[in-house]
Amino acid sequence: MHTPRQHIPETVTALTLIEFNLVMSETTTAIQSIEWREDHVRIIDQTFLPGRTVYCDIRDVGQMWDAIKKLKVRGAPAIGIAAAYAFYLGIKDIQDVSYAGFKIEVDRISNYLSSSRPTAINLKWALDRIASTIHALREKPIDEIKESVLRLAKTIHEEDKRICKKIGLEGQKLIPKEANILTHCNTGSLATGQYGTALSMIFHAHEAGKKIHVWVDETRPLMQGSRLTAWELDKAGIPMKLVIDSAAGHLMKSGKVDLIVVGTDRVAANGDTANKIGTYTLSVLAGAHGIPFYVAAPLSSIDMAVATGDDIPIEERDSSEITTIGGTKIAPKRIDTFNPAFDVTPAENITAFITEKGVIKPPFTENLKKLFS
Ligand code: MRU
Repeated sequence: MHTPRQHIPETVTALTLIEFNLVMSETTTAIQSIEWREDHVRIIDQTFLPGRTVYCDIRDVGQMWDAIKKLKVRGAPAIGIAAAYAFYLGIKDIQDVSYAGFKIEVDRISNYLSSSRPTAINLKWALDRIASTIHALREKPIDEIKESVLRLAKTIHEEDKRICKKIGLEGQKLIPKEANILTHCNTGSLATGQYGTALSMIFHAHEAGKKIHVWVDETRPLMQGSRLTAWELDKAGIPMKLVIDSAAGHLMKSGKVDLIVVGTDRVAANGDTANKIGTYTLSVLAGAHGIPFYVAAPLSSIDMAVATGDDIPIEERDSSEITTIGGTKIAPKRIDTFNPAFDVTPAENITAFITEKGVIKPPFTENLKKLFS
């Protein structure tokens, strides 16, 4: 558990930030990036990692919108969980006692939260799940509906932990007894309720006694690999090396990568997969070198409503993310930029999906359909 060595309340944009030092013996799988605390949500503000572990208390829906937008909380499943709690924070003080008036507010809150980040379908998935529960309870008193929404948010959170564990246990079977694994972005406890998706496979392979070594892509421009994945692997005591994103081809050509595992923000019905920018490049390189390319995907990340990857909205982020490093300009003042946060890996580049319902192999259109029917 966390031992508060220092307790420094700060006020940053009206949020309460509390800093703790984690005890060294804490393993990564014990990390809780999101926690419901009686009347508010506490998240680890991931923008401070790895330098400082800062917790941020979120008490209203606007604060959560901002936290999601600024990647204080990030990773597709974690965004879904955060949005579910924020939904409750948004509705809990609605005064209207008529269902019609309540419903107008519910729709407004759902649309607002949904506008924070467009690519990860887990966000919409969680909001839709709550909206349908509210609809199903429309004859009940409003206070009862509100309580049911909080219960559902907690259920979504707990379910995600169990799902990630299943993905890890199932997926680690695909990892040989000795393996060099390359991964991109952050898919661990920080990005989910607990354990992670692709990183859960890695944690569980390590726990099973396999001799693994992980190549951690730094993941430009926001460095989720070097800041977050390396931090989590370090806590778990898993051997790793940090590499720059463009080293991946060289590593594969030199025979230093046995398999690649990544997570996803959204899988289309045909298996096309959106994930952190640079994932597509890795998949092409994997194909060229005959290296298995696995995608760990909870069912909440699979969007059967979009036929192919062409229909997945790709978030574009601020130019400052690529024109500055740590506040220092690294490009001429007036420069045009293009900063997509995600790309789409075509289904044919993917060896298999690892889900909580098992391993899904090609043909994906057919097998994903079966999974949902
Ligand atoms: O922009 P981010 O950091 O939210 O992007 C996260 C990713 O791309 C992850 O790979 C994905 O959400 C899967 S997390 C289990």
